[in-house]
Amino acid sequence: MKEDLVLPAPREAAEPGPDGDPLLVVKGLTKHFPVKGGFPIRRTVGQVQAVDGIDLTVHVGESFGLVGESGCGKSTTGRLITRLMEPTAGTISYRGRDITHAGRKQLAPIRSEIQMIFQDPYSSLNPRQTVGKIISGPMEINGIQPEGGREKRVRELLEIVGLNPEHYNRFPHEFSGGQRQRIGVARALALEPKLIVADEPVSALDVSIQAQVVNLLQKVQRELGIAFLFIAHDLAVVRHFSQRVAVMYLGKVIEVGDRESIYTRPRHPYTHALLSAVPEVNVAGAEAGPRERIRLAGDVPSPISPPSGCRFRTRCWKAQEKCATEEPPLVRISGNHEGHLTACHFPEDPTLEARGEDIVLDPALAALEEGHDDQGA
Ligand SMILES: Nc1ncnc2c1ncn2[C@@H]1O[C@H](COP(=O)(O)OP(=O)(O)OP(=O)(O)O)[C@@H](O)[C@H]1O
Ligand code: SF4
Ligand SMILES: [Mg+2]
Repeated sequence: MKEDLVLPAPREAAEPGPDGDPLLVVKGLTKHFPVKGGFPIRRTVGQVQAVDGIDLTVHVGESFGLVGESGCGKSTTGRLITRLMEPTAGTISYRGRDITHAGRKQLAPIRSEIQMIFQDPYSSLNPRQTVGKIISGPMEINGIQPEGGREKRVRELLEIVGLNPEHYNRFPHEFSGGQRQRIGVARALALEPKLIVADEPVSALDVSIQAQVVNLLQKVQRELGIAFLFIAHDLAVVRHFSQRVAVMYLGKVIEVGDRESIYTRPRHPYTHALLSAVPEVNVAGAEAGPRERIRLAGDVPSPISPPSGCRFRTRCWKAQEKCATEEPPLVRISGNHEGHLTACHFPEDPTLEARGEDIVLDPALAALEEGHDDQGA
């Protein structure tokens, strides 16, 4: 049987953090995908409301986690922010500039500052290019000539991400999944970005390797002062990494706050449910019995016709009539600390002070907290 370790309290995050200047401000961000149907003439018969009016702020140097079940709109949000996709509505401003509909030319100086790391380390690297070529690619495209040349810079980057600089001429297939994701990180770092959107960067990796890659990302975030939007469906990983966390459900942000608030004083029933899905064991020596586990009934409704009022109401054990008629606004409700916003008419009591001790991680992830070596993934 696998031995579960209790995750110790997270370390203090390095400054600057949530108190820094806003880097990215997203307001009312919306992406609807048309659904085509009909015969013989295909026409739009509905809209997938993938992202539906979300507000987010990521500060300079901050690590921000975005969490939710599959299909809730996390990747779409990431793609909108990195401008790989055009929003249906809403605004995105970066360092005070509205980039919502900025064209190629206007985006050029910003492109290098916002980078993305993808989930799949296999399909996101060109198999026909050497590591050197892959990592120097963004520098070439952007006409960047670092001091000492691109090759020297690539070797430095390889070293930063824990790879052997001598492997400059190797091809992606010669590396393991974890090592490939390190190459992806090196490529993202090549342009000295200010913001990295990491879309489930470790979920395709073995758990033991996940820990090492999360550790690397955390090192990069802290030492280089890069802000991260870290997308995950796993609250355990985000808890380790993020100073602030937003929880999404069916295209909406339903709760957001600093890590402490979200993990120890969650108010939204859905956040409770997600937290109770985090694997747990009895804390050694603790009196408490097994914590009650909330099972979410039913499937996530279709984002084509989401429930009226509160979108979570079809699965919520506290739902009342008001929940069907009135959409709960995302606001600071009574009992919440500053910056902790919840969208619920009948929130849970903020009584889960012991929650932090209940959350356990895989031993490999827990080992991270103890500062184990991150080399060689
Ligand atoms: N290009 C597209 N065309 C139509 N629908 C799309 C498109 N991309 C995403 N969707 C739909 O939008 C919704 C949100 O998708 P998205 O990929 O953003 O979710 P996610 O939270 O990243 O999920 P996962 O955890 O599975 O990666 C889903 O219902 C998805 O099917
Ligand atoms: S608003 Fe109503 S349905 Fe929605 S989470 Fe709160 S209690 Fe549940
Ligand atoms: Mg996704």
